[in-house]
Amino acid sequence: MTETDARHFLTGRELTSEVLSALLERGLELKSAPRSSSALEGAIVALLFERPSTRTRLSFEAGIVELGGSSVTLRAEELQLSRGESVRDTALVLSRQVQAVGVRTGEHDVLEELARWASIPVFNMLTALHHPCQALADLLTLRETFGSLPGLRVAYVGDGNNVARSLAILGELAGVEVVIASPPGYSLADIDGPAPETGTAELVADPREAVAGAQAVYTDVWVSMGDEQTAAQRRRDLAPYRVDEDLLAAASADAIALHCLPAHPGEEITTEVLYGPRQRIWDQAENRRHAQKALLEHLLPS
Ligand code: CP
Ligand code: NVA
Repeated sequence: MTETDARHFLTGRELTSEVLSALLERGLELKSAPRSSSALEGAIVALLFERPSTRTRLSFEAGIVELGGSSVTLRAEELQLSRGESVRDTALVLSRQVQAVGVRTGEHDVLEELARWASIPVFNMLTALHHPCQALADLLTLRETFGSLPGLRVAYVGDGNNVARSLAILGELAGVEVVIASPPGYSLADIDGPAPETGTAELVADPREAVAGAQAVYTDVWVSMGDEQTAAQRRRDLAPYRVDEDLLAAASADAIALHCLPAHPGEEITTEVLYGPRQRIWDQAENRRHAQKALLEHLLPS
């Protein structure tokens, strides 16, 4: 059996700027009329989780129902995958039962291997390296707040992780200026090596430099899934990168606060910002569903 060329969404680089813009437009349409599309009628989508999830699971399950489809949520530890069945064989079997599969796993290579052998669309629900579905919702939130994306400046402050990388990749496609402030050792340049996957994103050390002139100040957890063993050190190193009202005040006067969630108030973000007047964090969480529905329509054209 050979590799196939099904339409996948693994890093976001699969999209052109035009397709991304159309997806976001469609996401807003679907937000205003959530039951208006039956694009997934008759389709079954598998959602495979090797790591915990609240938003991703909920938003995909609910969104698939709204599109007229059905989902099957699979826990990796309940699959034969956990007993040594290969990713290739899992991909071949999934391809004969369902019409698309979303995967949340640690190693990005596992996702790529699955996509290599699947004859159905595979989409990334988070790996240690990328979280492109999150970036779609981030951009949708910026677009609904500011009306258009090109020329906006977004400052991501904190750990140079999967969320930061996907924001950089999809932000570049959308014409958004992304600036990422991280301490030494936590920058995407430190993690990715000489050729960081961050495109045109600017990588800096000073949070105030990053937020100057920014329309959005974005942060994520300091201890991502898989980083638990270095949690104490991370909390010490990242403490100067907390998003608080002072830092938000150093951004543009109209700046909003974003967080992909789950949040740890008092760590990467203060309670005042998380629930304050400038946050769009809860809209951003809702927008996961609308953006992903547009993505599913794109991956499974009728
Ligand atoms: N932001 C996000 O992906 O949340 P979950 O881990 O709860 O899915
Ligand atoms: N960076 C976080 C995102 C959680 C949605 C993690 O990988 O755990």
